[in-house]
This record gives sequence, structure tokens and C-alpha cells, in this order.
Amino acid sequence: NIYPVILAGGSGTRLWPLSREALPKQLLPLCSDRSMLQEALLRLSEWPELMPPLLTCGDEHRFLVAEQMRAIGIVPLDILLEPQSKNTAPSVAVAAHYLLQKDKDAAMLVLPADHVIGDVEAFHMAVQRAISAAESGALVTFGIVPSGPETGYGYIRRGKAASQGGEGCYAVEKFVEKPDRATAEVFVADKAYSWNSGMFLFKADRYLDELREFRPAIAESCKKAFDGAYHDLDFCRLDEASFAVCPAESIDYAVMENTRHAVVVPAEIGWSDVGSWSALWEILAEKEGDSEGNVLRGDVYMDDVQNSMIRAENRFVAVIGVQDLVVVETKDAVLVVHKDQVQSVKKIVDDLKKNS
Ligand code: GDD
Ligand code: MG
Repeated sequence: NIYPVILAGGSGTRLWPLSREALPKQLLPLCSDRSMLQEALLRLSEWPELMPPLLTCGDEHRFLVAEQMRAIGIVPLDILLEPQSKNTAPSVAVAAHYLLQKDKDAAMLVLPADHVIGDVEAFHMAVQRAISAAESGALVTFGIVPSGPETGYGYIRRGKAASQGGEGCYAVEKFVEKPDRATAEVFVADKAYSWNSGMFLFKADRYLDELREFRPAIAESCKKAFDGAYHDLDFCRLDEASFAVCPAESIDYAVMENTRHAVVVPAEIGWSDVGSWSALWEILAEKEGDSEGNVLRGDVYMDDVQNSMIRAENRFVAVIGVQDLVVVETKDAVLVVHKDQVQSVKKIVDDLKKNS
């Protein structure tokens, strides 16, 4: 049985000032009138092979997450609450323990809550292609054709056709998480590399085997955190003291870079992790941009503006004679940034934190 495990924690800082700690990216209606989390759940809702989803998120977002699911009529298997953010390796580990307790044979389809997938049919096919490899014990990741030497992604070099999997499954020869710029340039020039999409399919017990081998400290504290878990209303709370001592690390560094049992399924699925304002502009400009490439939200006046995104949340915003800008107005902050420099938005948040 395959259970979707939706990672709904973390706070996207690159979409400040819309995305905040209290209301992070995955809970915002960024690309449609539904939140990213709602979109992620709805795109799976018709797949016959899937069991109900298991969600993991931070304690502070539990009511929002539960309410967003109720609003679209999805009943989750459970909502696992993390007392602290420990990144994705622990999050996936506690989810694995949860599933194994219900189903010794459970496989998990790990999905970030904040990605856009344009071609759901192609994504569904990629997952189906991955099933037999996962069933025979591989840790399957879905690869994306790189569109540039981005340094915020994992890079996967595919090797031979995977012995365990069927068509379209390749052994992972090398997995490098977040390389530096020069290395990323070498990788994109080599057609055998994909970006790691951050979506995975594997059996719950196989993930825990690999985690125990490469990160015994994470494995041990997550086991204890789960053993001490208890239900509170509609939520499953982990044991706080055990989880507190768990090292924080992503699944990519902790497991995917180290395992010898990784398989990649390259997938052209219209994927984006909406990692910046310009990425969001690109997605929306294609869907709903005007003839000059502008994307507007809210009460906006505009004259002689091209290829820009203007979002007014509270107040009236007027923009004249500019190109390639992102303007985001919220109740307590206004951002004006050139589309080429949206990567620096994260810095604003870091600086604000330092000075507060
Ligand atoms: N529940 C939970 N708890 N979820 C979390 C936590 C946590 O502590 N930390 C992060 N997440 C969620 C985020 O909301 C996001 O949806 C997903 O896990 C991945 O975390 P990111 O922090 O966004 O990772 P990244 O973008 O730096 O890198 C990952 O994704 C890239 C593709 O978008 C890696 O898997 C890369 O290899 C990959 O290329
Ligand atoms: Mg990300």
C-alpha cells in the first residue's frame, strides 16, 4: 500500500512579505484560489492506488492545516505534529514509524506541500513507473530536466537502467545536494544529470534501514519521539524531549547522498518549487498574464508596465513606466525588487531576524 506523506512544515522566506512564519508559502493561495497544500492534496485525490495522506507539520500550523483539509473535503490518515523544525530527514522518519505501525508493508510517497506540478497525468505515470523499484527496496527519487546551474537543488547523475525497476528507472550513480555554482555548471552541461525534485517513493522500512546505517542518532531519537507519541484532538503529537535532541538534517544530505540503493525516474511534469518571486511570476504569466506579461492581484493601477508582477493585498497600488519588477504590498510591509534579484529577498528576512 502506498501512502502519500505530505511535508507541510518549513517557512519559505523567499516569498516574503507574503510568506511569513505564521503563514508560510505552502498554506498560501499563490497559484490559484486554493493553497499550495490544498492543490497538492487534490491532485492525488483521484489516484486509485493511494491510501489517505499522512501530513507532517509544525505544531503552530496545526489548525490552519486541518482547516484547509476540511475545506476541500479530504480526511487525512493523521496529522503528525513536530514540536520543533528538524528538517526533512526526521520528519520522514517519524512518518515511516507511524505507517509501519499500521501496515508492515507500507510504501511512502513523500511530497513537499509547496510544489507546482503542471502535468498531473505525467506525474501519475512517473509514480506508477517507480512502484516496482520501490517494492524491491530501492529509494526512488523523481528527476527534473535542469534549466540552469541553480545551486539550491540536489543533482542526480543517472547510471545504468535499474535492475529492480522497469522502463524509465535508472540507478543513481551520484547524488550531490546543493553544489556550488562551478560544480552546478559542470553538471548541467552533462545530459545525464537531473535536478532532484524532492519527491520520493520508498518502503517505510527501507528508509529506516538506510537512516539507521547513515544517521543512527536521527534514527534513534525519531524512534523514541514516535514511541512516546500520543493523540490530542485530531493530531498526533511526538514526544517533545526525544525530538528535541534529534539532529536537524534534510533527507537529501542524511540519506540520498549516501545510500547505494537510490533509483531515479526522470519525469517531465511541469514541475516548479516556486522558490522565488520570479518563479511565481513565470508560472502565473503563462496562465493568466496580460499581453505585456504582467501578473496582477488586488487593487492595482498600471500604465506602461511590462513583465512585472504587482500584488496589492490591502491598499491601492499604482505603478507607472517600469519593467521586470515585483511589487508586493501587504498590511505591514512593501517589497519592490527587480526580477533578476529576487534571490536576495531571503536576505531581508535574515537581516530582520538578526536586528529584532
Ligand atoms: N514537516 C516538515 N518539517 N516539513 C519540512 C521541514 C520540517 O522541519 N523542513 C522543510 N519541510 C518541507 C518544506 O516545506 C518543503 O516543502 C520540503 O519540506 C523541502 O524542504 P526545503 O527546505 O524547501 O528544501 P530545499 O528546497 O532546500 O531542497 C529540497 O528540495 C529541492 C527541490 O525543491 C531538496 O530535496 C533538494 O535536493 C531539491 O532539489
Ligand atoms: Mg524548497
